[in-house]
Amino acid sequence: MAKIQRCNYVMYLLVLILLMMNIFFFIKELESKSKCSEQEKKKLSWSQRAAEEAEAVASISCSGHGKAYLDGLVVGGIPTCECYTCYAGPDCSLLIPNCSANAFDSTTQWGPKRLGYSWDPLFYEPFWMENAESSAVVIAGWHRMAYSFPDPTSHLSQELEKTIRKLHSVANNAITDGRYIAIGKINKESVSSKLKQMEWAVVKDVNVYNRTKEYIHQADMEMSKDTLLGALTILGVVTEGDGKKFFNFAHEILRDRWEKISHIFSFSKRFSIQHIPTQYCTFLNRAREPSPAFTWVKCKREEDKNCTHVFLEEANIRGHPGSGFFADHTYVRLGLVTRQHDFDMLISRLEQFISQEEENGYCISPSINNQ
Ligand SMILES: *[C@@H]1O[C@H](CO)[C@@H](O)[C@H](O)[C@H]1NC(C)=O
Ligand SMILES: *[C@@H]1O[C@H](CO)[C@@H](O)[C@H](O)[C@H]1NC(C)=O
Ligand SMILES: *[C@@H]1O[C@H](CO)[C@@H](O)[C@H](O)[C@H]1NC(C)=O
Repeated sequence: MAKIQRCNYVMYLLVLILLMMNIFFFIKELESKSKCSEQEKKKLSWSQRAAEEAEAVASISCSGHGKAYLDGLVVGGIPTCECYTCYAGPDCSLLIPNCSANAFDSTTQWGPKRLGYSWDPLFYEPFWMENAESSAVVIAGWHRMAYSFPDPTSHLSQELEKTIRKLHSVANNAITDGRYIAIGKINKESVSSKLKQMEWAVVKDVNVYNRTKEYIHQADMEMSKDTLLGALTILGVVTEGDGKKFFNFAHEILRDRWEKISHIFSFSKRFSIQHIPTQYCTFLNRAREPSPAFTWVKCKREEDKNCTHVFLEEANIRGHPGSGFFADHTYVRLGLVTRQHDFDMLISRLEQFISQEEENGYCISPSINNQ
């Protein structure tokens, strides 16, 4: 009898424990639910609409042959598609027949103010799309309306200065300790539109630094505060970790493109391209295969006096005249930093063109798609 009673007692105890556990978890759940609704209330306020708009535009597909941008032409309340080379129509679904492949890729500007060249490094697009979250920037309308930063002698934020110093230490290409950073805009190649037309100098001497700042100011080469904010975000992504992710991305793509291009031209008797040896790279700490941004094509036949013309008329490829870069007309420059779409088209046209050359033994692969 005593045994049964003890058994009952143990059972009551167990039931009681279970009941208490239930109550405990029930309360916990209620707590977490109320926390959730608190967070819900804390949802973004003024930046929400902008974020929604940005994502809505980014989700417009343009048939995979174009892109829509927030500042694109708006028709019927929706930004229209900007089509890639050889595509047209409101959703970029129309293929333009016989249009030229784009290997031109650059807006070269030689002039008294902007000495240098620029190119659109559209091959980086997939990188920034992969890193969309970390590279997006929100700029408030009241962002740094004052001319100067808290330190009036500086023309960039301390965080941006830190990031630039980190970039140099990651790339191991300049000593920045005890030196000054001067920043301005210049028309040159860049890794992202947020860095476009931006350049900085690491300056040792304070007088030179002061004069550089003064020059940048006088020459109207100062960066806007919005651009500087964007640059901070972009350089943050570039220098993430050991900084190799970004540089490896570029190297892998350009190495692959160079391999494809040099393979095709290796069959040609009519054209030659520059020879680039494999070099040791101190940044990647290994031998680095060539990954140039351009192919320099030389027309070897005497009658091919205008190489740009040969490529345009016979191959339907638009390149940059060599004469724009102090070479002569027997050279044409084909850009390799173009959007993947343009590069694929270039390869397809080149395969056709080079395979037409008599007896060079080059056969195009059956899978090519001649657009
Ligand atoms: C396209 O090019 C081919 C060969 O160059 C030519 O025969 C044809 O007429 C062209 N078509 C158009 C629509 O221009
Ligand atoms: C550099 O310029 C700052 C003001 O912008 C001034 O305070 C400083 O004395 C200057 N330094 C030299 C060495 O001229
Ligand atoms: C070479 O050909 C290109 C393309 O047809 C043309 O734009 C350029 O003016 C030509 N250059 C010369 C020097 O004839």
